[in-house]
Amino acid sequence: MAGRGKPIVEKGRTVSRIESLQKRVRELKGELSVTIVAHYYQKDEVFEVADITGDSLELAKRAKESGSDWILFCGVGFMGQSVKILAPEKRVAMPKIACCAMARMIDSSYFDQSVQYMVDHGIPKEDILPITYINSGAEVKAKVGEMGGTVCTSSSAVKIIEKALESGKKILFVPDKCLGQNVARMMGLRSCVIGEGECDPREADIVCYNGFCSVHQLFELKDIEFFRRRYPGIKIAVHPECKPEVCEAADFVGSTSQIINYVRSLDPEEKVAVGTEYNLVHRLREKNTYVLSSTKPECPTMNETRLEDLVETLEAIRDGRPLNEILVDEETVKWARVALERMFEYIGQ
Ligand code: 13P
Ligand code: SF4
Repeated sequence: MAGRGKPIVEKGRTVSRIESLQKRVRELKGELSVTIVAHYYQKDEVFEVADITGDSLELAKRAKESGSDWILFCGVGFMGQSVKILAPEKRVAMPKIACCAMARMIDSSYFDQSVQYMVDHGIPKEDILPITYINSGAEVKAKVGEMGGTVCTSSSAVKIIEKALESGKKILFVPDKCLGQNVARMMGLRSCVIGEGECDPREADIVCYNGFCSVHQLFELKDIEFFRRRYPGIKIAVHPECKPEVCEAADFVGSTSQIINYVRSLDPEEKVAVGTEYNLVHRLREKNTYVLSSTKPECPTMNETRLEDLVETLEAIRDGRPLNEILVDEETVKWARVALERMFEYIGQ
């Protein structure tokens, strides 16, 4: 059993049911012009049938470039939506339209209130440059694009903030306060969080919105201390959605793909405890790998997608009655696309 202090071993699975559903998915995919895309946090059985896997940045880039008519996106809502915004000519469906809880912590009116907070504290609107984490809805991305701002992902955040600073404007970072604070610390910048203590935008380089990921909040400094006491020399790798004190104490901080590459670069005998979603950690490597929490860090919405949903969605496409198709109105696409394309331009991709 995977967990605190115990190495990860194979999960028990009902192999026959899984294999027959996977076979059905592959058969249906063979009949259709469909690319199946899956984030690392998906269940193993879903992850195994994907054509494209990766972190949020890689998935957005590779899905928009794929040659097929349909993208079947196994992930959370903002991910499928981002592909539709970047490639409106493609048809995008999600076997489950599951929502990222952090993305739901902000909408366009809360975004406007955050801009107003900065204006009320002496920063004129034209001096504010908003950056939204890709974990946000299309309307928020559109607001950001219209104000001259950019989207970032966990792997591109440092480069995007570096580029944003060239404008000389004050950065408003939404919705993840942890990513905003962690990037600020790594870059030697000052940050504050609206609604937490005295947040004076004039005294900060990055003003963060007060959103967070409840899954990554589970990892605590005491978990790092526990593992270091129990296994001296163990490496600690965490996602930048973790709390600032956790990221500061870790040996490595990176996106899901970056964590995978880091762990693969270690000697197989070297122990590592990882602070991110359970499914990714579970399939990382055979031994010497631990989940950095005594509580199972499972993202509930990422885990909603089942093979049965894929079969149902593929059958619906085949029968010309698509299910869960992602649609975004033209005006929102226009500005959200500007914000997303700016990210690719700023990171040179
Ligand atoms: P990545 O971009 O690192 O894959 O992160 C996505 C996410 O939702 C992490 O919780
Ligand atoms: Fe959203 Fe957190 Fe789940 Fe990532 S792990 S999809 S940020 S709720």
